[in-house]
Amino acid sequence: MRKVGSRAEDLVQRVLTRVGLSHSESRIAADAQTYWASAGSASWKANSHWRDAHVFDDGDLWHEIGKRHLDMFERGARAVGFDRPLGRVVEWGCGGGANAVHFAPKAREFVGVDVVPETLAECARQVAARGGTPFTPVLAEVAHPERVVAEIGTCDLFLCFYLFELIPTPEYGERLLRIASRVLAPGGLALIQVKYHEGDFWSRPRRRGYRTSVAGMTTYSVPEFWQLVADSGLRPEGVTLVPENELDRRYAYFLVSKGERP
Ligand SMILES: C[S@@+](CC[C@H](N)C(=O)[O-])C[C@H]1O[C@@H](n2cnc3c(N)ncnc32)[C@H](O)[C@@H]1O
Repeated sequence: MRKVGSRAEDLVQRVLTRVGLSHSESRIAADAQTYWASAGSASWKANSHWRDAHVFDDGDLWHEIGKRHLDMFERGARAVGFDRPLGRVVEWGCGGGANAVHFAPKAREFVGVDVVPETLAECARQVAARGGTPFTPVLAEVAHPERVVAEIGTCDLFLCFYLFELIPTPEYGERLLRIASRVLAPGGLALIQVKYHEGDFWSRPRRRGYRTSVAGMTTYSVPEFWQLVADSGLRPEGVTLVPENELDRRYAYFLVSKGERP
């Protein structure tokens, strides 16, 4: 019944967008900030990928997420000849640390960016429990991601997983790519996951009604995102499609580099 209700809600929101009644990026960003600030409920915890969220009860999917991403990064790095030590690693939207616990032990410093102080604290706890890599929390505001660029400094690897699907709009994603381009050191790499669409009514960007479809807000076609990467001063090196996994459908991972490799 709940599924029927959310499908009906999705239909209404998408029809309203189709007839020109989409919400502005700033309106959606405000809704997103309110949603993520409402820390505590079971679904919020699941959406934030905390280790003890109910979605991860069955088996150790939480660990599997980061392990798969690390494997994918290592395969990609080999393919493009990236073999320098991972000094500083940034994850934008680090959540409860599913990726951090796998990448941090390979790095000199792990920088977690998120919009929720409680989530940054949880990520710090998870990293600390798995070794001594320093964890630097960076608290961003949904509406103003650019404001934390100076605080982040530069990095060798920029990661972004399960985040682009829940940003306000596709245009906001372009802002994040420009941030990645600014913080990545020359020769650095990024691994960025987006949800892709195939042009149909149900999978295109929703552009309104954030709270009722957090992870269904923003999608790109694969060629569109490839071009967006290139337009942001970065170089797309390759893309891996995952049409379905345990959490959702239609994922594309872009391996991206910054400038010439030294
Ligand atoms: C689905 S979790 C993903 C966590 C982690 N990346 C992973 O793969 O397990 C999304 C996280 O992004 C954070 N978030 C939401 N909007 C954000 C934004 N605009 N910028 C940075 N973080 C954001 C949320 O607080 C949440 O912790």
